[in-house]
Amino acid sequence: MKKKILSAILATAMMATIITGCGGSNEQPAAAPVAQEPAAEAEAPAAEEPAAEAPAAEASGSLADKKVGVCIYQFSDNFMTLFRTELENYLIAQGFSKENINIVDGANDQATQSGQIDNFIAEGVDVLIINPVNSSSAETITDKVVGAGIPLVYINREPVADEEQRWADNNWDVTYVGCDARQSGTFQGEMIVDLGLDKVDMNGNGKVDYIMVEGDPENVDAQYRTEFSVKALTDAGWEVECLSDQVGNWQQDQAQAIVANALAQYGNDVEVVFCNNDAMALGALQAIQAADRKVGEDIYLVGVDALSEALENVLAGTMTGTVFNDHFSQSHSAADAAINYLTGKGNEHYIGCDYVKVTQDKAQEVLDMVK
Ligand code: GAL
Repeated sequence: MKKKILSAILATAMMATIITGCGGSNEQPAAAPVAQEPAAEAEAPAAEEPAAEAPAAEASGSLADKKVGVCIYQFSDNFMTLFRTELENYLIAQGFSKENINIVDGANDQATQSGQIDNFIAEGVDVLIINPVNSSSAETITDKVVGAGIPLVYINREPVADEEQRWADNNWDVTYVGCDARQSGTFQGEMIVDLGLDKVDMNGNGKVDYIMVEGDPENVDAQYRTEFSVKALTDAGWEVECLSDQVGNWQQDQAQAIVANALAQYGNDVEVVFCNNDAMALGALQAIQAADRKVGEDIYLVGVDALSEALENVLAGTMTGTVFNDHFSQSHSAADAAINYLTGKGNEHYIGCDYVKVTQDKAQEVLDMVK
């Protein structure tokens, strides 16, 4: 019962967001050139290169001596693991010494992370790269770090617009690197629209009946993906019915339980499962298979991130699609931004990147790139 009421409240809240939300979804971002950019970047020699040989070190002459503090909101997050591994490799390839790069786990606890930031400040790091546990703590973090005279690069969890405006107004060495989550949501919805309503509306009620599994609701990625995936359907003139909308916190096990319950409750009426990320889509797939449903035949499933396992499922047809969350481009841009601060070049206060839509025909290409 409770769940139904919660679903109804969430569905209403979501509709309210759709109606009142910023109408930015029509800035149709062109699909990013998968083959060129990330592939080219992926070719860059990463890791284990001796610092002195790296080109950026030559340019600046001193990156090997610079200390970088990196705060990750939670090491157990699959996508952030790809991100931090690539970030470390790329920093080393640019000339930083491995022993001067300290990457710490916030364990999904803001108090823990704030303590880690204090320690980095006390140690006198030269630059900080921070993936905040709570984006709402950004103001406090910024004040602390700027107060200590340390340049700051936020990644992955975007602070609110007012906070970003403060950086510009005060001309602080603070920037955010990330992709626009509205684009990833739009791509998820478009992959469903491309199937055609006849194929998706299997119960023939004239609507698309869907389940939404959300990431951490404090994160703008979760909010936008939830909103814009559905908006792509309504923008195509489709009617939609939200059967269940629940928070799975980016976690596979939580999503599995949510989707298992929703399938038990709504049965064959569930036509589409939207998951805000791939870890949750993999959990959803376990529940779908346990319920004897078949993706591509009697249900559709989309995620975001392009984890290898998800790409393999897209190739096999056991996921309808995913969206490549380009950890190469984001980690490289974050490192480049840090270098720009260290070398006095400075940065814009927002550094973006593009997502890439991945359906079966593109999955192998992206898999080759991420593996
Ligand atoms: C998102 C990503 C999720 C999760 C989250 C953490 O961009 O899609 O899988 O890693 O970031 O903030």
